[in-house]
Amino acid sequence: MSKQFDVIVIGGGPGGYIAAIRAAQLGFKVACIDEWKNDKGAPALGGTCTNVGCIPSKALLQSSEHYEHAGKHFADHGIEVRGLSLDLAKMLERKDKVVKQNNDGILFLFKKNKITFFHGRGSFGAAGAEGYEIKVAAVAEETITGKHIIVATGSNARALAGTPFDEENILSNDGALRIGVLPKKLGLIGSGVIGLEMGSVWRRLGAEVTILEGLPTFLGAVDEQIAKEAKKAFDKQGLKIELGVKVGEIKSGKKGVSIAYTDAKGGAQLLEVEKLIVSIGRVPNTIGLNAEAVGLKLDERGAIVVDEQCKTSLPNVWAVGDVVRGPMLAHKAEEEGVAVAERIAGQHGHVNFNTVPWVIYTSPEIAWVGQTEQQLKAAGRAYKAGTFPFLANGRARALGDTTGMVKFLADATTDEILGVHMVGPQVSELISEAVVAMEFRASSEDIARICHAHPSLSEATKEAALAVENRTLNF
Ligand code: FAD
Ligand code: NAI
Repeated sequence: MSKQFDVIVIGGGPGGYIAAIRAAQLGFKVACIDEWKNDKGAPALGGTCTNVGCIPSKALLQSSEHYEHAGKHFADHGIEVRGLSLDLAKMLERKDKVVKQNNDGILFLFKKNKITFFHGRGSFGAAGAEGYEIKVAAVAEETITGKHIIVATGSNARALAGTPFDEENILSNDGALRIGVLPKKLGLIGSGVIGLEMGSVWRRLGAEVTILEGLPTFLGAVDEQIAKEAKKAFDKQGLKIELGVKVGEIKSGKKGVSIAYTDAKGGAQLLEVEKLIVSIGRVPNTIGLNAEAVGLKLDERGAIVVDEQCKTSLPNVWAVGDVVRGPMLAHKAEEEGVAVAERIAGQHGHVNFNTVPWVIYTSPEIAWVGQTEQQLKAAGRAYKAGTFPFLANGRARALGDTTGMVKFLADATTDEILGVHMVGPQVSELISEAVVAMEFRASSEDIARICHAHPSLSEATKEAALAVENRTLNF
């Protein structure tokens, strides 16, 4: 008889491993299957996020920011740096170490929570009285059975039609994180989140970076005022972003990559670079899951169809994270994982999609939660806005980075906060206050009346809330 589990999780990324831990905490007998291997063939839990996403990108963003500060900004503080040089191999090695610490951390958490881990590919077999059979294709194939199945198989990078990734010249997020020799010229297609973060890393390290974006507007999903401010800063840094282009033929050879494109004015252009990163979005991953054979319904994008509770078309089969609808973010995947484990236990797991924060870890950082001004206008909602620039914040001046602002949007009648948008230093941390406020349905006045430490960047949040009623104190 095959091994029996209460819950089998397929996929050990942030959606899957967190679901497994929460299910184990709730007293279930849990298995998690994940196929990711490191370069030595060993398990590397944590999925895209840990291996080729959130964690390594932030490690390189940090290292490259230190390098840029040492080269360009330390002098402002009276610190002279002579003989500054880049050891790219060491920087990449450090990034790999950070990844490995996270991989091992998750393995430790599995042991601590008595979760049985299978290293291999999981696929659906037959459904019977005991639940679903899941085949694990590992060194030795085996079949296990689970009453509840949570699918958390994540997503893969989308390639341009006719231009597959070779990870040598044409890079996905994977290759983009391990370029071994600094290219003189680097091209990116897509100025979304990956385009801006990875473009920033390689520009800071010294590459001449050009990003080709298909849409005519920069960061269309971001509040317009914030996106404009960010674009100004990126232009100043020399990050070249061409909007409204149409990418044509791409040729890759020994010398690099040439990209033919039409610019926004209709002119024919050719970009020649050593490496090209394609960051045009991601596609849900159900490869090898045998989903169709068991009748697991997918939508036209290839995402597993789920209801608001993450229930799929099959009884007792759930799906979370990048493989289902909604933003492709690690913390969204985690929240869904926790909620599903709690629902299996008969509890009322809940995910509030209105308060999922977004952060782009560039410099300046961009962060937001809730609705943008353009969304409120389109919905015909009456609102009040308040902004406060970091230029007028003492801590930002002391840091030496006064780029950007905090912006509040609140209901015109009730003053309930509808959206908070930030661009500037360390706003990835500041946004949490806005998330908490919105979860508690706070008004802008609530934030304006709270004592914030001085001097701190968070005072810009308080001041932006005060600005909603035109009563900033420091501007
Ligand atoms: P994944 O992390 O993709 O994990 C899925 C796992 O399932 C993988 O390990 C895969 O190998 C395994 N798997 C798939 N099929 C099977 C199978 N049949 N059997 C066994 N195992 C299987 N999000 C943020 O919130 N913040 C960030 O800063 C951020 N930065 C990012 C940077 C980059 C460059 C990229 C590419 C993404 C970034 N993301 C970020 C997005 C984030 O990585 C994803 O939203 C998140 O990883 C989704 O988690 P998941 O568990 O749904 O899937
Ligand atoms: P994205 O959706 O953020 O951006 C893709 C960009 O490519 C868009 O601006 C789109 O208009 C453009 N594009 C699409 N097709 C094109 C074409 N043929 N020619 C030119 N431009 C084209 O996707 P990205 O950057 O690949 O990232 C994928 C996802 O990963 C993000 O949406 C996000 O969910 C997640 N992520 C999150 C991060 C974070 O939270 N900090 C960091 C990196 C990724």
